[in-house]
Amino acid sequence: MQSNKIRILVASLALSCAHIALAADPPAEGRDRTYAKVCSFCHDKGVGPAILGRALPAAYIENVVRHGFRAMPSFRSSEIDNAALASVARWVSQSPASKASTASPASPAPSAAPATKAQ
Ligand code: HEC
Repeated sequence: MQSNKIRILVASLALSCAHIALAADPPAEGRDRTYAKVCSFCHDKGVGPAILGRALPAAYIENVVRHGFRAMPSFRSSEIDNAALASVARWVSQSPASKASTASPASPAPSAAPATKAQ
């Protein structure tokens, strides 16, 4: 149900017909709100590459989000405002690897990385 909402939100953003300004709210469930609502839809589902835990520079992330990058859609400031963008870029840049983030009980856990510790 949640993912349907996110799908609809992202589709609206992609079609540039939504007037949704995401405010830079405190992180929900330990994740940045914008990441959870927008980026996660693709970047935790294998549509886009994993971006967590790679220490990508915040400025690079902001640039990709604002201007797009090949298959990555761009988001205007009317869709993700500057404060929310700065917040999500900082959070993604400093985030631990996605294994930890998908362990959140609130997320559907796409089981991307199999644990190979017990070998
Ligand atoms: C509609 C799906 C979609 C959404 C939503 C999305 N991305 Fe992406 N993103 C992609 C895809 C696909 C790529 C890979 C682009 C390519 O290489 O062709 C990508 C690439 C990126 C990259 C470059 C990764 C690298 O390896 O250099 C960054 C950074 C990024 N996205 C950040 C974000 C952030 C931050 C958000 C949320 C504000 C977000 N993306 C939302 C699909 C998405």
